[in-house]
Amino acid sequence: MKAPIVSLSYDDVLLVPRFSQIRSRKEPILETRFTKHIALNIPIISANMDTVTESKMAIALARLGGIGIVHRFLSIDREVEEVSRVKRAEAYVIDDPYTVFPDTLLKDAKQRMYTLGAALLVIDEDKKLIGILTNRDVEFVDSTTLRVSDVMTKELITASPKISLDGAKGIFMKQKIEKLPLVDAKGVLRGLITKKDILARIRYPEAAKDKKGRLLVGAAVGVMGDYLERTKALVEAGVDVIVIDIAHGHSIMMKEAMVRIKKIVGECTDVVAGNVATKDGVRDLVKWGADAVKVGIGPGAACTTRIMTGVGVPQFSAVLECGIEAKKFHVPIIADGGVKNSGDFTKALAAGAETVMIGSMFAGTDESPGQEIVKNGARYKLYRGMASIGANVAKTTISGSQKGANYERITPEGVEAVVPYKGKIDATISLLLGGLRSGMSYLGAKTIKEMPKNAEFIQITQAGLRESNSHDIDVK
Ligand code: XMP
Repeated sequence: MKAPIVSLSYDDVLLVPRFSQIRSRKEPILETRFTKHIALNIPIISANMDTVTESKMAIALARLGGIGIVHRFLSIDREVEEVSRVKRAEAYVIDDPYTVFPDTLLKDAKQRMYTLGAALLVIDEDKKLIGILTNRDVEFVDSTTLRVSDVMTKELITASPKISLDGAKGIFMKQKIEKLPLVDAKGVLRGLITKKDILARIRYPEAAKDKKGRLLVGAAVGVMGDYLERTKALVEAGVDVIVIDIAHGHSIMMKEAMVRIKKIVGECTDVVAGNVATKDGVRDLVKWGADAVKVGIGPGAACTTRIMTGVGVPQFSAVLECGIEAKKFHVPIIADGGVKNSGDFTKALAAGAETVMIGSMFAGTDESPGQEIVKNGARYKLYRGMASIGANVAKTTISGSQKGANYERITPEGVEAVVPYKGKIDATISLLLGGLRSGMSYLGAKTIKEMPKNAEFIQITQAGLRESNSHDIDVK
């Protein structure tokens, strides 16, 4: 046993201001590395928790330049569906648009359209395009006998698969259409360009996208049960990164799972692994194949790991130590949990993290999954730790266990809570980025990479922390 050393949290430290050549808060560049091969335009990741990230959150965050990690407490089909929704939300060209055959019953096609939230292109057996079925064709038709061919729009404006983006824009403007199917010389359907996607490109210039112009998305898997089947299905759905997420990432279970998962994903999909909080943890995860390492044992707002087990490392020190180790291997780390405000966010990046994962600050937004609760006229949403009793019970339902949850056997390492409703996520992101830009300007750091180089941290006292917050005034 070693003698204890002092380990610090974000609240224990401050960054010292230094000479800065930055003239405007617009100057700092927020691009960063998420994994060895994936870059983001802002250093923000939404946590793979069932009250934080499903497709709605992932779409919103990727449009703003970050990435969302879909949680794994869903059936494989549902997790795949969430990923597919993100990958289909935007694209330069949709390679495999949703299709339907002309003899399909209209009521079935309608049901599919509502589930997918998309129009269907009508093709024959040779994949030749013969029509399109949009909302306009079906909204007033209520029939159990009609077929798709009875109501579909047959007069189509199409283009060659080789059409340029500007060419497509011209057609949208001239023809006042919403969808432009791409067909080859034989009339075979080869893809689809939508007006919505073109407009999104203009509206979200910072969006984090893959080579095909689709939004980036990650998805979490565990290390037991169906995790290999799940990984395979997620990769087939086009997920950009697999996050192997377990409470204690520095473990034999992780090592064995990583080897198997790496075999499935090959070179094409990066793997993030975690969580760890030590340099040994980082080194081993990198050795086993991690393309980024998630750091954080017990700092999260809904975490009780440290209280229940006596184990953990205060997050600032964990990020600092892990960041130094990760640099030796050129692998980025993700500071996961414990960020309560834009100051903590800035400190995490200055301490050596290249991105930050956020849970509670994003819970309660329009984009987080879960129902709103109204209490005494105020609006709230649920936020819960994934090791809370409620989350454990939900996991049993998903895994299809016949026995149900055994409450006495659950040792929770997380809690369930409500957080105030916060409206759209854009406001929270804007606060985080505004604080970060300002912090970078105090440090004279033009890039995220420069932050640790320019960072000098000082430890503060309780009196210092009290002084840091608003004090001695009546804040409403
Ligand atoms: P914040 O502070 O952003 O933290 O809400 C989000 C991170 O918390 C972790 N997490 C847990 N940790 N017990 C834990 O000890 C839990 O039940 C739990 N649920 C989530 C996770 O790393 C997440 O990203």
